[in-house]
Amino acid sequence: MIREIQTPIAAGTVVHAWLKAAEVLTGNAVAKAILSLDGNAVATWEAHDLGFRFVTFVAERGGELRIAWDAAETELSATYAFDPETALADGIRLLHTSAHNTLPEPSPQLHFRSPFGWMNDPNGLSFFDGRYHLFYQYYPHSLRWGPMHWGHAVSRDLIHWTHCPVFLLPEPDVAADAKAKGGCFSGSAIPLPDGDGLRVYFTEHQSRRDGDMERQRSVVTRDLIAPQSLAEVPLERPVESYGRGDFRDPYVFLGPDGRWKMLLGTRDKSAAIVLLYDSADGQSTDGWQLVGRLFADDAHGAAPAECPCMIEVPDVDNPERARWVLIYAVLTSRDQVTARRNLTYAVVGDFDGRQFAPTHTQELDFATDCYAFQALQSPDGPRGIGWLANWTDFSKDEDFPTTMTLPRRMLVKNGELHTPPIPELSGLRGVALAQGVLSIGKTILLPDAPVELSFDLAQAEGAVEIVFGHEALDLAVRVSDDGLEIRYREIGQMQTQGTAPRYLASQATPRNLRIFLDRGAIEVFADDGRWVGSKRLASTAPVTSVSLQAKTGDVVCADIWRLDMQNTKR
Ligand code: FRU
Repeated sequence: MIREIQTPIAAGTVVHAWLKAAEVLTGNAVAKAILSLDGNAVATWEAHDLGFRFVTFVAERGGELRIAWDAAETELSATYAFDPETALADGIRLLHTSAHNTLPEPSPQLHFRSPFGWMNDPNGLSFFDGRYHLFYQYYPHSLRWGPMHWGHAVSRDLIHWTHCPVFLLPEPDVAADAKAKGGCFSGSAIPLPDGDGLRVYFTEHQSRRDGDMERQRSVVTRDLIAPQSLAEVPLERPVESYGRGDFRDPYVFLGPDGRWKMLLGTRDKSAAIVLLYDSADGQSTDGWQLVGRLFADDAHGAAPAECPCMIEVPDVDNPERARWVLIYAVLTSRDQVTARRNLTYAVVGDFDGRQFAPTHTQELDFATDCYAFQALQSPDGPRGIGWLANWTDFSKDEDFPTTMTLPRRMLVKNGELHTPPIPELSGLRGVALAQGVLSIGKTILLPDAPVELSFDLAQAEGAVEIVFGHEALDLAVRVSDDGLEIRYREIGQMQTQGTAPRYLASQATPRNLRIFLDRGAIEVFADDGRWVGSKRLASTAPVTSVSLQAKTGDVVCADIWRLDMQNTKR
């Protein structure tokens, strides 16, 4: 069972791969791959146990590269090539994926996802030298969560992405054990002060016999593709905060007092806690002082706050007043009324660099699939992105392909956070499938492509329902006296435990809906992002049709566009 990859490569090309002994072998199993260039042996990759080992090859000259391995003995996971000089512009060239980490086809087009493997939280979202950098929680070897790496991609517009080499790798002992719970957990990035790269902060999670342990670490990157100078970030743990294993997701940003701030998510005996640290120098890894609890949420007991982030957001009603928004997720939280789980909150308030005075709290996303949201100050103002999934739907035994949400703007209006889609998305509008009107009850067939629908609603007394055709889902967006709802049910699935969640914004009275459809995703932005619902579709089959159920006059305008990824330039 000799397998091989053959490809021409140029001098200077770097190849990354992971290999391990095939599961059938035990004892002193050796995994091996032989590399040759134009027929001459140039390297051998070996791994001596059942865990994946990361291996590299740098081509000193160009030629025809052949990588050969015996599939009876060796499992080769992802393998890709790149030119370090041009990796940010050209990305990686995928040479091989395995039966375990290859994504189901066809894949989403409009929404970002990793080129192979498992993905969760956005990390280190940053803008540097004309490019957005999106790092993310990553397990390259299967479509299920495993020891955490950081994936990496870059974009000029947050819509079109170029995949870069994997950025952070877990410690070798963690990487070698697919069942290990540890690795490089979530974090953030800030620019280096000399304008020459990024500093990244992240959590190192270790599973130990005496309990889990989380501590913070930092690396810098000057070439923006590989980490250097790993350093520990010593942080005081307040005594009332317990759970050594729930002390994570450093988010570093510049505060209104000109000093650097770091948020961490944790919990105590009765609440989800966001901790605040402060430093005069965001680059100094050992200069962080505990300020205290920035925020405590006791609505869900001792559930950990995850992935807190905080950002200054313009108040469109009062441009002079800087508003700050804190966003955090609460793992294991549950809304009693709708049975939705793992909720994310956005708190609008005033922040002086040490104290946060909240003025308004809301949910970030009523369909709950905008988890671990991360925001950045872009040249066009604050923007953010989330993981379009929720841990409550995840199963250890089944693959769970996901995407990131669409990128959003962030602004405060009427004292509330609005997160509309970034304006660049409108540039993707192509063929109009409906213009201004949509006959009630008539079914419009949708192309197998991303689609945007927009509806202006009159003050309606009855319900307006936008019903989508899908082979595996009962899917609709409904505005009624109950509020704004994404009706979602997997056809033929029996609800086995508890109540099925209702993806409902119960107070919502929207007058405009913008709905984005992609394979595996629906996102609803109501009234310029005042209410947003992102829902992962547990099927990669396309949405095939739409029809409108409403009383005449309730929908005053309806537009539908096919979205074309070629319409805007990278
Ligand atoms: C949130 C989270 C983070 C953690 C990461 C691990 O989705 O649980 O708190 O750092 O995922 O992958």
